[in-house]
Amino acid sequence: MQLVSQGGPAPRHLFVIFGATGDLSYRKLIPALYHADQDPKAHEGHAILGVARAALTDEQFRIAAAEALTQSGVHKADAERWANKTLFFQSLGESGPKEYQALRTRIETLEREHKLPGHRAFNLALPLPAFAPTVERLAEVGLNKSPGWTRLIIEKPFGQDLSSAKALNDLIHKYYAEDHVYRLDHYLGKDTVQNILVFRFANSMFEPIWNRDKIEKIEITVAEQLGVESRGAFYENAGALRDIVQNHMMQLVALVAMEPPALIEADSVGNEKVKVLKSILPLDKEHVVFGQYGKGMMGNEVVPGYLGEKGVAPNSNTETFVAAKLSINNWRWQGVPFYLRTGKRLAKKATRIVVTFRRPPVAMFDTYGSCVFTQNRLELLLQPDEGFNMTVDVKQPGSGLHLQTQRMRFRYAEAFGKLPEAYQTLLLDVVRGDRTLFVRSDEIETSWELFDPVLQNRPELKQYASGSWGPQEAEDLLVSRGHQWTEI
Ligand code: BG6
Repeated sequence: MQLVSQGGPAPRHLFVIFGATGDLSYRKLIPALYHADQDPKAHEGHAILGVARAALTDEQFRIAAAEALTQSGVHKADAERWANKTLFFQSLGESGPKEYQALRTRIETLEREHKLPGHRAFNLALPLPAFAPTVERLAEVGLNKSPGWTRLIIEKPFGQDLSSAKALNDLIHKYYAEDHVYRLDHYLGKDTVQNILVFRFANSMFEPIWNRDKIEKIEITVAEQLGVESRGAFYENAGALRDIVQNHMMQLVALVAMEPPALIEADSVGNEKVKVLKSILPLDKEHVVFGQYGKGMMGNEVVPGYLGEKGVAPNSNTETFVAAKLSINNWRWQGVPFYLRTGKRLAKKATRIVVTFRRPPVAMFDTYGSCVFTQNRLELLLQPDEGFNMTVDVKQPGSGLHLQTQRMRFRYAEAFGKLPEAYQTLLLDVVRGDRTLFVRSDEIETSWELFDPVLQNRPELKQYASGSWGPQEAEDLLVSRGHQWTEI
């Protein structure tokens, strides 16, 4: 069993980034590693080896990385100093056995030169089809083992469907024990997402009412204003269900709905997440809406529809929007609908969870004509404007009995300033050996079991205008239950 990190420094190690010249590496991983290094308690020392097919020298990689850091707001001189001291590069060229043998030699040389004891983290920042061959090649030259620990970091997507996810997990387990595998879903690195458990289990007022007796419905929205940008080709093989729902949103569902874990550590939390995911009833096709954005207005700008984006087939039926109603068939949640929606080119960027509580048993104020009664609501604002709102009805001052809904609010920015980037938290957890915020193989497979049938029997695609909240059918999904989406 993995021990919980107590926040102590990680031992000296080598951090290896596969796909080091890619967008994810320059935009997220390198800045995260740079910022983590600013904390003297982060680790006792490390070297970072970038690996990619490109034929770069150490020097060229350092220049590119320093430039990316500068663009992200780091002072140029600081970025260059850090890059020169910390970064190295090894080209994989044709990615054959010879190149992997050379990689092994380079790793061992760096470890000798920098007095690193053989602890290694391999971050596969690669497209999905490259995962399996890379895992195989690493094992062929014995790089799945080391004199210290070896940890494998895999970025989502974890498979394309249930069978490919199983095949990938089986392959990984051939060479690595599950507790050496860190499946990274960046949502779990967000402080506001981790705060869901703190909110529920550190505040005794919520747990007694966090169930079907007091909660009427739960809405989870992951809305983006951006379209697919330059990722059309990638997105064509993904779609919103694979890109957001199967992973990020199901993690949110699990954290909101799970039972309290025995301990806040990887296995206890993972067990509870799997338990609740297994309690979700198979999705009824009638309860899933797929949409695709057409052209529309984002602010004052006219934007093209999905079919007009680069890399997208002219007759593509890839969904850029999903709404769904989930039912969790357990003692806590039976009968409480979980409404999910996500999409690109929606009206606002907002990730939030809205919990609506039931009406009081006696609606005594409804008898007053001028009273507008609103059900209590808790809104967890995961991003942006991170924090929460809680709505309560109060009496308006003055004569007569008039109710008004007021929002009590908390904002992270006001209390703590800027939040750290998700990747910074997660990469540090890897080298500290804390798997609590990573996704287990059985979580992935349970989630795919739910969505595989939807992909095999896809709902009809509905159009929505860019800048809207998605197709009308996503509204109708709630109306049939007398509900509606809470305004964002
Ligand atoms: C990624 C998806 O996992 O999450 C992207 O591949 C999406 O399509 C992104 O834009 C959203 O992340 P965030 O942190 O902005 O909600």
